[in-house]
Amino acid sequence: MTDTELPPRLTRLTFHGPLSEARAARIVDRLAGAAPSTVLDIGCGWGELMLRVLKAVPGAKGVGVDLNGDDLARGRANAKARALAERVQFAEESAVGTSRGPADLVLCLGAGHALSDAQPPHHTAEALDALRRMVAPSGRVLLGESFWQRPPAEAELAAMWPDARADELPDLAGLVDLAVAAGFRPAWIETAGGEEWEEFESGYQADVEEWLAAHPDHPLAEETRERVDRHRTSWLRGYRGVLGLAYLTLVPVG
Ligand SMILES: C[S@@+](CC[C@H](N)C(=O)[O-])C[C@H]1O[C@@H](n2cnc3c(N)ncnc32)[C@H](O)[C@@H]1O
Repeated sequence: MTDTELPPRLTRLTFHGPLSEARAARIVDRLAGAAPSTVLDIGCGWGELMLRVLKAVPGAKGVGVDLNGDDLARGRANAKARALAERVQFAEESAVGTSRGPADLVLCLGAGHALSDAQPPHHTAEALDALRRMVAPSGRVLLGESFWQRPPAEAELAAMWPDARADELPDLAGLVDLAVAAGFRPAWIETAGGEEWEEFESGYQADVEEWLAAHPDHPLAEETRERVDRHRTSWLRGYRGVLGLAYLTLVPVG
């Protein structure tokens, strides 16, 4: 078996989350406007948004932290291709209890769970406390965090992920309250729309679905099929229209 025969992974995604090009451009404009010198990306994956901020702010330096070596390698390759390699470091390490920071801009997109070992529902407050410690005075945090768009029904919870519970996430107002309680003011509150979710969820699996169609008898086909079927079911029968993703631009108080 050669590498090209293996199932692909996330090749259709620009961002590892429901984020449109239009919203990303607005966010980068807003964050670059504060002219950060240092950017820290927690659970960065391949760090696409961080790279765009660095491109928009000449001289700014960035550090991305993640556990996934393949995603970090993709980030390094993208940085090199955009002449940013000298200004960014992709570090393979856990963000739990990290001593990184303070940074002028801290990004944490879909990765609040990377900041503590706390279990839901306490993980969000713990992540916000950690982000408050990591951001420099007058800096900014961009938090991409989950919330319930509406209370999930029992059947939806049962389809979502193992042990999903209605009390594990706040609603949007509750999420913003947690940010305020952690010592931030919410300068900008926005949420991913249905189209962004469908682009993300389809892009998340499209390369593997096409691979499966082309390799039905491959030794890895059965386990791969089970994995993508399970994921699609958890989306379509579970969290579609129920799980939200908020992008909060947060300013530390005092
Ligand atoms: C949904 S992805 C988001 C990636 C990236 N922030 C983005 O928006 O494209 C969540 C990331 O958190 C990372 N992660 C999970 N636990 C972590 C930990 N303890 N320390 C650092 N990163 C972690 C995963 O490897 C994954 O890349």
